[in-house]
Amino acid sequence: MTGLDTPARDADGGRAIEIRGLRKSFGTNEVLRGIDFHVERGEVVCVIGPSGSGKSTLLRCVNLLEEPDAGTVRVVGAEVTGPEVDIDAVRRRIGMVFQSFNLFPHLTALGNVTIAQRKVLGRDRAEAERIARENLDRVGLADKVGAYPAQLSGGQQQRVAIARALAMGPEVMLFDEPTSALDPELVGDVLGVMRGLAEAGMTMLVVTHEMSFAREVADRVVFLDGGVVVEEGPAARMITDPGHERTRVFLSRVLDPAAARVGEGEG
Ligand SMILES: Nc1ncnc2c1ncn2[C@@H]1O[C@H](COP(=O)(O)OP(=O)(O)O)[C@@H](O)[C@H]1O
Ligand SMILES: [Mg+2]
Repeated sequence: MTGLDTPARDADGGRAIEIRGLRKSFGTNEVLRGIDFHVERGEVVCVIGPSGSGKSTLLRCVNLLEEPDAGTVRVVGAEVTGPEVDIDAVRRRIGMVFQSFNLFPHLTALGNVTIAQRKVLGRDRAEAERIARENLDRVGLADKVGAYPAQLSGGQQQRVAIARALAMGPEVMLFDEPTSALDPELVGDVLGVMRGLAEAGMTMLVVTHEMSFAREVADRVVFLDGGVVVEEGPAARMITDPGHERTRVFLSRVLDPAAARVGEGEG
């Protein structure tokens, strides 16, 4: 189907995420135009790129919220795009955190972190609540277990959403611009939780515009533009000394929006 369907290689089995030749169109809009990249176990990879470049679609193809048109996606050795995939089993290994937290408004923080454990994993109430409390504690919300979403700040709600994902015991965490809906003063707490996860060895694929986070926490940065990987490399090098002009232009806008508005053709 893709020209890339060579037999599975042993090396793939060890990788958290392996993407080859991934293509996805919506009607005539070709959004992903042949994506290749991987995430090693324990690695933190940040995906950066302009709005509309396909970052969310890429993440959504990893857990089949979108069905790829071509190419292969493997997650912890299982081919997500294969004909016999048990997608529910794969999704249980992948935690996802979105820009919008999507908490149930009528459930407390504890209830929000408990419900999928009970319905999807079949855990009994006591065990689900024990695991929920552990994970709420891990994101710094031990004192908010009984609070409803409306009683929590955006940053606290996002941390509940992270706890909810962690409570399922994922092997890989996907984050799609987790801080971009937050007031600036609330961003740091969420990034701090993510940094802690990274330090604890969680495998993470993170779409973000937070370049200081990418530089300090990511192992690698992938720059996506126009549905292709323009370049990728070690985080520090990608952000301070990218190889491609398109990456430079993008970074100059993200790192210094005011300067980007003032003059074109600068630096
Ligand atoms: N479900 C969808 N149906 C139609 N078009 C979509 C859908 N999802 C995304 N797109 C289009 O795909 C392109 C890339 O979107 P997206 O992956 O959200 O980019 P990014 O996250 O980088 O901003 C955009 O042109 C967007 O309008
Ligand atoms: Mg997006």
